[in-house]
Amino acid sequence: MMTRPTFSLIVHILVLVVAAFCPVTCFGTVPTSEPTNQERTGAVEARVNNLLKQMTLDEKLTLLGGTDGFFTSPIERLGLPKFRMSDGPGGVRCFGPSTAYTACVCLAASWDQDLARRVGTSMGRDARARGVNYLLAPGMDLYRAPMCGRNFEYLGEDPVLSGLTAAALVNGIQSQGVAATVKHFALNDQEFNRHNLSSNADERTLHELQLRGFQIAVREGKPMCAMDSYNPINGVHATQNAWLNNDVLKGEFGFTGLLMSDWWSCYDTLGMANGGLDLEMPAAKLYTPGKLKPLIDSGKVSMSTIDDKIRRQLRVAFTMGWLDRPQEDKSIPLDDPASIAVNIEEARGGITLLKNDDNLLPLDPAKVKNIVVLGPNADHPVTGGGGSGYVSYFHAVGVPEALAAEFPEPGRVTHIVWEPTEHFPAGGEADLATIRAADAVVICVGFDDPGCFGPNHGSDNEREEQDRTYNMPPGHSVLIQSVVKLNPRTIVVLNSGGSVSTASWIGRTKAFIHAYYPGSAGNIALADILVGKVNPSGKLPFSWEEHWEDSAAYGNYPNPDHPKSNTYKEGLFLGYRWFDEKKIEPLFAFGFGLSYTKFSFSHLTAAKDGADVVLSVAVQNTGDRAGAEVVQVYAAAPDGGLPHPVRELKAFGKVLLKPNETKTVSLRIKADDLKNWDPATKKWIPASGDYVFGAGNSSRDLPVNCHLLF
Ligand code: BGC
Repeated sequence: MMTRPTFSLIVHILVLVVAAFCPVTCFGTVPTSEPTNQERTGAVEARVNNLLKQMTLDEKLTLLGGTDGFFTSPIERLGLPKFRMSDGPGGVRCFGPSTAYTACVCLAASWDQDLARRVGTSMGRDARARGVNYLLAPGMDLYRAPMCGRNFEYLGEDPVLSGLTAAALVNGIQSQGVAATVKHFALNDQEFNRHNLSSNADERTLHELQLRGFQIAVREGKPMCAMDSYNPINGVHATQNAWLNNDVLKGEFGFTGLLMSDWWSCYDTLGMANGGLDLEMPAAKLYTPGKLKPLIDSGKVSMSTIDDKIRRQLRVAFTMGWLDRPQEDKSIPLDDPASIAVNIEEARGGITLLKNDDNLLPLDPAKVKNIVVLGPNADHPVTGGGGSGYVSYFHAVGVPEALAAEFPEPGRVTHIVWEPTEHFPAGGEADLATIRAADAVVICVGFDDPGCFGPNHGSDNEREEQDRTYNMPPGHSVLIQSVVKLNPRTIVVLNSGGSVSTASWIGRTKAFIHAYYPGSAGNIALADILVGKVNPSGKLPFSWEEHWEDSAAYGNYPNPDHPKSNTYKEGLFLGYRWFDEKKIEPLFAFGFGLSYTKFSFSHLTAAKDGADVVLSVAVQNTGDRAGAEVVQVYAAAPDGGLPHPVRELKAFGKVLLKPNETKTVSLRIKADDLKNWDPATKKWIPASGDYVFGAGNSSRDLPVNCHLLF
């Protein structure tokens, strides 16, 4: 009998032979047995080279620019169709309504890689239902300041959390034959003057922090695509930044996929061609044959550079199977109940309970007879932030509707609608009496739903092309203060991508939930959490400062008063690394989130497994409700070498526990994730000396520790 490797080898040779001799319109065949990764790669490369060989120069150059807003260019003579792209990252935006998932920052708050993979898979299915080949997701620039209009599209302030969450999303999306696109490479963490303002950071900060998430995502998720950002990095626009694209992304990170521009973010043909940009989107303004040919003729741009760009584009198509089957899968419903179920599940995992004095929550429907729900974000469903990350939904569930489903008897949920005003009370005496008499008040505040490219104010919504204010929209803080005075049993629910000023009300409010943006149906999860059907388990993926002045970016975050600089003076000390270094108490620490039960940690051990570290920690549910807990492991490197943060997140996992149940959680830290970048030698240096690992459920609560010597 023929052994599997021999059989595979023969299949592989056959594929190469067929690919090499097949006629012009043939793209080769797909092996019928399960090939190994190496075989798969070899077969793809053979098909890529075969097609490339048949292209004229003009055809090759045509492929370097997109077309029709969201497509790659076709080559009809060779039977190469145009491939369809869609935003991302909160669902499939571009071809009619779709399921809006939670904002990515909410998914990051779940700290749940299995869940992120399921969300990616579900987005991939939504893409297939619409014939979408490229999904322009996930977004993963690091959260640096709360005002960034796109924080909601990203995955928080830490590169391990964002890198692993992005990788899980990518794995899910690509499992459906849809190419994922990590974006925006890189340092696009502010929207003010985004085309011109340079993000400046030193090389160690870039390697260890700002680019690190992308490196982890490339290593663990193998995204087929990346998208360059609008902004210059250290003075050179991303789309022509050879160091960033060639040396780092394609060189050090080993990215073999396609690097596209953000929409209309190209500035210099020669710089782009030699600077690593493979595809100009949405159309060729600078990658035109007229501009490129003289550069090729004069030898300034080599043919092998052009061929590499084409190879990368074809590699995506062959690897994803787009030339072997139709991309549109009509068996998947456009309005898919399975996607809605995933949306509810991710909201259950991500929504974060930040304050719950006197155990005001959960609201027991047997005891809480009547509830008032009010606030601008209760008056219509707010599913997401705006811009290209906004997904038009088929249907959405608002908070009053979701709560009414938990308290179905008539009259138990009263929705009071008031116009936001700086002068309270806004309503009449009857409303005030209803609020006073309620067993609980749910007040919904935060940024509004602007649609894709709605009005550009900066104070009432979050979206690309604008940064927002640190304060909530006008009137929201006053509303909270006034309602809390009328009824202390008030729960504040916030929609935003990042922190907001809470100074005027947080001390007087018993309960506070950060709901991020819930997507189409995530308010059902919010209601589940409010009544205790679901025990909250989300943990903040960013640090919440008590005052903006406490933040690492304060004083060097660009705004109309300081328009010139986006220099990362904090270096490595971003987010919790800053609060730890400066010994500032955050209002809510990175990794923090409450549960309706309690957990304890014990028996943390760390051991070497080759060059990796394996950790084990016991987690017990010591309360009386089932619940999920996030185990977070931080490492403190020994002093003496390069200066470093007090502690850094290195691994995490989520575990579901019944009351009294104990589970042992095993986590692995890859050797590369303990290295530091040495700016002097421009090399990664492995861990050395005595490391302390701490485990717990926030960056500020690490009850168990252990040492490991390297
Ligand atoms: C955004 C990208 C998006 C692209 C296409 C740009 O304005 O920055 O994130 O993918 O538009 O919509």
